[in-house]
Amino acid sequence: MKITYYGHSCFCVETRGQKLLFDPFVSPNELASSVKVDEIEADHILVTHGHQDHVADLEDIAKRTGARLISNFEIVSYYAEKGLKGHPLNHGGKAKFDFGIVKYVNAVHSSVLPDGTYGGNPGGFVIWNDEGCFYFAGDTALTMDMKLIPMTCPGLDFAILPIGDNFTMDAQDAAIAMEYINCERAIGCHYDTFGYIEIDHKAAQKAFEDKGKELILLPIGEATEL
Ligand code: NI
Ligand code: MN
Repeated sequence: MKITYYGHSCFCVETRGQKLLFDPFVSPNELASSVKVDEIEADHILVTHGHQDHVADLEDIAKRTGARLISNFEIVSYYAEKGLKGHPLNHGGKAKFDFGIVKYVNAVHSSVLPDGTYGGNPGGFVIWNDEGCFYFAGDTALTMDMKLIPMTCPGLDFAILPIGDNFTMDAQDAAIAMEYINCERAIGCHYDTFGYIEIDHKAAQKAFEDKGKELILLPIGEATEL
């Protein structure tokens, strides 16, 4: 799977010839000014919760690309009124798509859309197919529910975890999450974008190393194969 980082929590994962775009927030992000939002491609857009720093570019990208939104019922219903096609999920449920299976799992956070509309409960995604399995946590605290993932899903090849503290887990808690989800490699997200979540990169990576885990911090605009 090829993973491209567009800053904050926005990633594109390419698998089985499909582009899965996560939490599109690029144009308001000064750190991602080199990313051309108008050129981001997507076949599916997966949104973890309704906060502005996860949906800012959703409508524009979905309308330009025709991508299908995959999110919780409330967020899919909200964007359906704006003309976006979508597939609604709720916690613990999974669905089969042409690129693989998506399971919507618990996150401990909040979720309201930018105009104040109720955004359902926040979640994360576990996605798998014959190329592998990964967990996109979304904004979340460390939670015991993460232990359910290795009990209910295939073994994880990698995870994308928030590490910025203040609104989500920090790297120390994320390293504990790696033990809960039984995973060896993570890509960090939700750090440095705002003053509240600026972090020490070396200290974050050391927190993972101390537990025998790997934390990848991708430069914005760059990609890796996992
Ligand atoms: Ni949030
Ligand atoms: Mn956020």
